[in-house]
Amino acid sequence: MKVLASAPAKIILFGEHSVVYGKPAIAAAIDLRTYVWAEVNSDGKIRIEAKDIKVPGLTVSFSDREIYFETDYGKAAEVLSYVREAINLVMDEAGQRKGVTVSITSQIPVGAGLGSSAAVAVATIGAVSGLLGLELSREEVAKLGHRVELLVQGASSGIDPTVSAVGGFLYYENGNFEGLPTMELPIVVGYTGSSGSTKELVAKVRKSLEEMPDIVSPIIDSMGKIVEKAREVILADYDRSLKFELLGRLMNINHGLLDALGVSTKSLSDLVYASREAGALGAKITGAGGGGCMYALAPGRQSEVATAIKIAGGMPMITKISREGLRIEVVEK
Ligand code: MEV
Repeated sequence: MKVLASAPAKIILFGEHSVVYGKPAIAAAIDLRTYVWAEVNSDGKIRIEAKDIKVPGLTVSFSDREIYFETDYGKAAEVLSYVREAINLVMDEAGQRKGVTVSITSQIPVGAGLGSSAAVAVATIGAVSGLLGLELSREEVAKLGHRVELLVQGASSGIDPTVSAVGGFLYYENGNFEGLPTMELPIVVGYTGSSGSTKELVAKVRKSLEEMPDIVSPIIDSMGKIVEKAREVILADYDRSLKFELLGRLMNINHGLLDALGVSTKSLSDLVYASREAGALGAKITGAGGGGCMYALAPGRQSEVATAIKIAGGMPMITKISREGLRIEVVEK
């Protein structure tokens, strides 16, 4: 038997980092997916084949006769540890241990802040549970995905696996979530091409909170209030242009606070300012920062903002919200 499952990437619209401290956050699944095939094998081992996991930093160099490839194996190994923990947890839940071969292809760049690790964990949980006949609801998959993140990263709010498992547009707080009405969001995601480690960035924020609680704690509280205000705006009966204008302003404040926490980089801020100058109503980091991605809200100006991101050295992606979270694509008997 063979099962193919897929799970989407996500963007955090508001509330990354503060969500780790129990504040709410708003996030959406987007239309980039990770695909995982799982199959029982006869040698009793767990085998993971990373067919294409979009690890950044592939360098190709040429000498007279030879071509050298270098890649960031550290990043690849990190992704594979999410897969290994996901397989182990599903086998524990199912009370069965078998040799399984898991094969991964992904459209989501690793370490870009788009939830590639959560998507690979969620798709693996979906494929392996399907293979072992373990029926799990989307919420149960999200909870297992959160446990995988805690095992690998040490700290995690659980927002990434929840959005990846459930899909759509969500308001998240302390493991609970509420679906927000899907609105068309004219956004452009800008990828710096470099990646940050969520584990290290979360640890960096925790360290400054511990060292300077009087200063950092109000920043985190303020980020929580931004999220509540954004939810109010999304649910309000305002016309679209007022909603976008208010959300853009909240994004800009949220970016400033993330910068104050030390998770921005020059290349992220370059893309943020280039987007604003090209007419975006708001632009901010999305995800853990330290490289990775930003996003801009740019109604009617998406192609200008995409061009500005490219000129500023980034890779623009015009994406849509994906309503579907974990999807079982194929079951071959
Ligand atoms: C990572 O996508 C979001 C963070 O808030 C970490 C987490 O919520 O687990 C930085």
